[in-house]
Amino acid sequence: MGFLKWVLAFSTLCTFLATPILSDSLLNKQQLANISANFLNSAKSPDLFDWMVKIRRTIHENPELGFEEFETSKIIRNELDKMRISYKYPVAVTGVVGFIGTGKPPFVALRADMDALPIQEEVEWEHKSKIPGKMHSCGHDAHVAMLLGAAKILQEQRDDLQGTILLVFQPAEEGGGGAKKMLESGILDNVDAIFGLHISAIHPIGTVTASSGPIMASSGFFEAVIKGKGGHAAIPQHTIDPILAASNIIVSLQQLVSREADPLDSQVVTVAKFKGGGAFNVIPDSVTIGGTFRALSKEGFSQLKQRIAEVITRQAAVQRCNATVDFDTKNRPFYPVTVNNKALHEHFQNVAGQMLGIDKIIENKPTMDAEDFSFFAEAFPGYFYLLGMVDETKGVFVLGHSPFYRVNEDALPYGVALHASLVTTYLLEHQLKSATRDQSVHDEL
Ligand SMILES: *[C@@H]1O[C@H](CO)[C@@H](O)[C@H](O)[C@H]1NC(C)=O
Ligand SMILES: *[C@@H]1O[C@H](CO)[C@@H](O)[C@H](O)[C@H]1NC(C)=O
Ligand SMILES: [Zn+2]
Ligand SMILES: [Zn+2]
Repeated sequence: MGFLKWVLAFSTLCTFLATPILSDSLLNKQQLANISANFLNSAKSPDLFDWMVKIRRTIHENPELGFEEFETSKIIRNELDKMRISYKYPVAVTGVVGFIGTGKPPFVALRADMDALPIQEEVEWEHKSKIPGKMHSCGHDAHVAMLLGAAKILQEQRDDLQGTILLVFQPAEEGGGGAKKMLESGILDNVDAIFGLHISAIHPIGTVTASSGPIMASSGFFEAVIKGKGGHAAIPQHTIDPILAASNIIVSLQQLVSREADPLDSQVVTVAKFKGGGAFNVIPDSVTIGGTFRALSKEGFSQLKQRIAEVITRQAAVQRCNATVDFDTKNRPFYPVTVNNKALHEHFQNVAGQMLGIDKIIENKPTMDAEDFSFFAEAFPGYFYLLGMVDETKGVFVLGHSPFYRVNEDALPYGVALHASLVTTYLLEHQLKSATRDQSVHDEL
């Protein structure tokens, strides 16, 4: 059918003749270049591009929050139906998992998140959000469109795939832990590897970031109620002041990172919420504080969690207050550290390097934001990278979670081509490895 057959015929012929040029890769440079060039061409074709942009804008106009992505999910299923791609639905309320290939191992997955944010869009354009107070301001609309684009060009190669590609459309990335729920459904149990991307408003279009090991932090939230005894602000001796107690708690919490954490193990504790009182002359009964804590190691994270609870309750007691601490993991599960697999890192560098040029791969430092892709990458080998979209001729691109967030749609073909190339070459490599294994067994007989 497609060009993959040609590449493969060429590969099996040449595997034992030519030493692969790239480390840990059985496909040689030429073959990788051919695959990624072919996919990039397909991804840039005006038909595919226009179709993808239309889907992205439709989703942008109708943003849905975590676990409420019913219309988004319907658009996805509708397109998969048109492409004759089979899928499982619902997975984790609104999630969809599509299948391309033999239905047999190896299983390699691509992931896109679908949810929007509770933000009022301030960008005035033709396809502005039609839902007041909700907006795709993290680019997940573009993620969905790119995965559908990849589905389309992969489906054209389906007869030449030795293995199965899973298209993972995931709900509730923004705090809800949709990935965790999808894993719990069991449908991803046999996945051998997973790739995910996030569009980036920092990096130039045509570039990607790549790193091995921990790339994003483990993250959790906490809320505490500090209970005192309210009364007249001028008669403090008859009250127990929770405002002062909460203030001391916040100061004490800041010492966890500065005094108790290993300085080389990055951690963050931020109190972002403080609610108490409403009058100039009344000491309130209680104060509520809340915030987030982050760490780049599992140990650092669990130590922070334990100490946050202790510091809040014990510091409250110093000022005669009672405090309760709630981590609310049912609604906001702790996100693990996002760890990129080393072998997949090499694979990514080979593929992206051939497609975009080695100089377009930016090595990035870990950051303290969190991604629930980490649940997948904890369950099986995973790889997460950022896809640049910045083009200064197209104005200023602001960071995600802003009401002024915009996506440069010109970046979509790169995401599509990377998605498609990463998984097909993964399956090809796997096939060549087993061929090599069979051959060596044969040689010994
Ligand atoms: C790349 O693939 C095409 C088929 O799409 C083939 O005609 C061409 O010869 C290949 N080129 C290389 C360098 O492998
Ligand atoms: C704190 O809890 C103790 C024990 O239940 C109780 O005796 C005390 O009155 C409480 N203090 C406040 C400020 O609520
Ligand atoms: Zn986000
Ligand atoms: Zn996001």
